[in-house]
Amino acid sequence: MNSVEDVDLAHRVAVMGQRAKRVLRDNDRGRYTVPTAKLYPFQWNWDSAFVALGWAEFDPERAWLEVETLLSSQWPSGMVPHIIFWTQEDTYFPGPDVWRANHGPQPSSGISQPPVLASVVRQLATESDTDRVNAMFDGLNRWHQWWHAARDPKGLGVIAISHPWESGRDNLPDWDIPAAAIDASQVGEYERRDTQLVDASMRPHKHDYDRYLALVNFGAEHGWDDAAIAAGNEFWVVDPGITAILLRAERDLLKLGEWVGRDADELTSISTRIERMEGGYDRMWNPEAGTYTSIDLRSGEYATTGTSASFLAPYAGVTERTPALIDELATWSQHCPYLVPSFDPRDSRFEPNRYWRGPVWAMVNYMIATGLAETGEDEWAEKVRLSTRQMMLHSGFPESFSPTTAESVGGLHFAWTAAIWLAWLHKL
Ligand code: GLC
Repeated sequence: MNSVEDVDLAHRVAVMGQRAKRVLRDNDRGRYTVPTAKLYPFQWNWDSAFVALGWAEFDPERAWLEVETLLSSQWPSGMVPHIIFWTQEDTYFPGPDVWRANHGPQPSSGISQPPVLASVVRQLATESDTDRVNAMFDGLNRWHQWWHAARDPKGLGVIAISHPWESGRDNLPDWDIPAAAIDASQVGEYERRDTQLVDASMRPHKHDYDRYLALVNFGAEHGWDDAAIAAGNEFWVVDPGITAILLRAERDLLKLGEWVGRDADELTSISTRIERMEGGYDRMWNPEAGTYTSIDLRSGEYATTGTSASFLAPYAGVTERTPALIDELATWSQHCPYLVPSFDPRDSRFEPNRYWRGPVWAMVNYMIATGLAETGEDEWAEKVRLSTRQMMLHSGFPESFSPTTAESVGGLHFAWTAAIWLAWLHKL
């Protein structure tokens, strides 16, 4: 028998679905979706990929348009930029005049973002989509090759980032020590826009922002040349998030390639890259921290604590450390009621309301839970899913959530959060 509570929940879930679609429609700019108006008024790379999963639930054509628009911004080098400046807006800083990165068909930033796109394409693809997938295959393949060549030139099997923003987890405490050495004395005066739109207590400090801009200046002064960046960029840090997401994406690309019948030598080169990453993954295992951590390749130092990306190993298909990761997740869950905080809640640098220093992102949870479920860890996959759902039932579709209160953190009316509801959480 359905109780009054069940009927009430079913009603709320239906309303949430309508609201989620509304968020996507409000942020729709025709061929791409902005993360949220004003705060992020352009196309962002991994946002678009996740947003396509939401569109796919009620407008599959629009989902394909989203990912095709993203890939159309690809640079000749294969890099797909983290921001594509399709329009001129004055609510965002730094804009194209600061990046000076006109290497692609559109003005863009000069760095990339987590390559979740091939995994999303694999999810979108149905029987009738072989031509589309075939048309996107080369672009996806070239982007993956770019990650290996540009961000792992020594063939370590783990991927470095050249800027905190490239990780997509911009303000993580992991980046503090590697960024501390950056000389920001030449950055000069600038006017931030983010703190005019969102409470400054939720955003990075000026000290961090100065260093973000110094790195942008370094890239711009070196014409965004990959070799110059690998050789001389002061910030060069192996990221467990990018590494896990790329390894997963490579496996999905291989499946797509097999499905559309690509040449054997193309498939073999993807397999070779997968093997290199499988061999390299354990470099990120940090026995003292008891989890996977980032590595500052300039100093050789490991970060001292795990982050939400530590739990992405199962999503990458790397399962030998899963029992230890589950223990770690269980410990985290004793320290905060909502999973999965972006940073270790036991650490003194944990801040539940400052971005990437504690708050929960829905699409990170989606990847973590997907990996756990695929690894047979259904109980924890379901805990992560339900936690995400509860936070959305409580606060709707903000940028992120406090892991201690489930309250909104950052921008509101946020596209990828709504997309994750549609793709993953709407079922009772
Ligand atoms: C912030 C996030 C980044 C995201 C962007 C737009 O910069 O750190 O991951 O892509 O916002 O949502």
